[in-house]
Amino acid sequence: MDSIVKKIATMKARIEWGNEMGYYFYHQPVRSLGGTRVLVNGREMLMFSSSDYLGLFNHPAINAAAHAAIAEYGTATYGSRLLSGTLPLHCELEEKIASFKGTEAAIVFSSGYSTNLATISTMVGRGDVVICDKLNHASIVDGCMLSHAKLVRFKHNDMADLEKCLSAAGAGARKLVVVESVFSMDGDIINLPEVHRLCKKYGALLMVDEAHSIGVMGKTGHGIEEHFGMQGSIDIKMGTMSKTIPSVGGYIAADRDTIMYLKHVARAFVFSVALSPVAAAAAKAAFEVIEDEPWRLAVLQRNIAHFLNGLKALGFDTMQSKTAIVPIVCGKDERTLKITKLVQEKDLFVLPVLSPAVPPGMSRIRATVTAAHSEADITRALDVLGEAGRMVKLLK
Ligand SMILES: Cc1ncc(COP(=O)(O)O)c(C=O)c1O
Repeated sequence: MDSIVKKIATMKARIEWGNEMGYYFYHQPVRSLGGTRVLVNGREMLMFSSSDYLGLFNHPAINAAAHAAIAEYGTATYGSRLLSGTLPLHCELEEKIASFKGTEAAIVFSSGYSTNLATISTMVGRGDVVICDKLNHASIVDGCMLSHAKLVRFKHNDMADLEKCLSAAGAGARKLVVVESVFSMDGDIINLPEVHRLCKKYGALLMVDEAHSIGVMGKTGHGIEEHFGMQGSIDIKMGTMSKTIPSVGGYIAADRDTIMYLKHVARAFVFSVALSPVAAAAAKAAFEVIEDEPWRLAVLQRNIAHFLNGLKALGFDTMQSKTAIVPIVCGKDERTLKITKLVQEKDLFVLPVLSPAVPPGMSRIRATVTAAHSEADITRALDVLGEAGRMVKLLK
């Protein structure tokens, strides 16, 4: 059998096995009723799998901005930003992002995935070295591969290993270090002070993916630099507008020359249609709401503490998470699937993350808590998870 036919057959068999066992949880059409409730196959479930960290879903000011954009521009842009696709809205959004992130300029792409792909493959190339944390998101890895730079990976958040990689790259090579601020599967935080120090020592450029920190880290939600009190320490600040920002798209905030270069050379920007007016308007309004409604962050922090402390008290292993992304380690894939089935039967919507997405034996439920959850929601989720954990003998 040729290799692609074999791969398709293996995937088919895995999905069929999942369906037979009641373990296939993917591609379920989910209707949203509000930030914390979803309708799945007609059943209302408590949502603990959303990236709406600040609870901005359906925010009236964001919805109003989206409606106004449709009224003025319709639903499409029909052109690349370089040619006929740039609207005043795109420029206003980029100005807002630059001021939010404290940089000279910003550029928006039509997804977070394409932002990483396009930026990394534009900023480095053959002969350069790109150094990544082992747990970096697939979009970062794909961007590195597309760049043809030499890809080197250091052990997760291990600064001694990062230094080894930087030193081995050699003084002559152009070096780019790429890390996430909050890691999307483990929920832990990058050691930015050390990464920054090492980048300076070895003359490397630093790019940080803030998909899971924008709006939710730092005293006022401005991100990882604010969290560590290190404003201006990251050269290339990347973020998505599909998580805390309830829209779609991604951005890079950086100095004016870098942004000018990306706007003329990054292929996913030059050769792809501009972000829709609705997405641009909603995103801009969301950045404004984050600054206008700081109480949301306080509620999120309270909810994170409630959920994490509750899980730990039950005996769950939540790894190093201190954020809204909470891994609940179950061990083997099959046990993770069993717990997911049990909790979904009790109307708690969480999803399993299995190997090879995570190391074997580290399969987990990936839960997320948001500012929209009430105390009662969190208590209910803890009760359901605790009961399932005891049923599969993960907990005593
Ligand atoms: C760390 C990280 N970077 C990039 C992306 C891609 O963003 P988007 O889904 O907006 O394309 C994600 C999405 O899950 C992510 O978690």
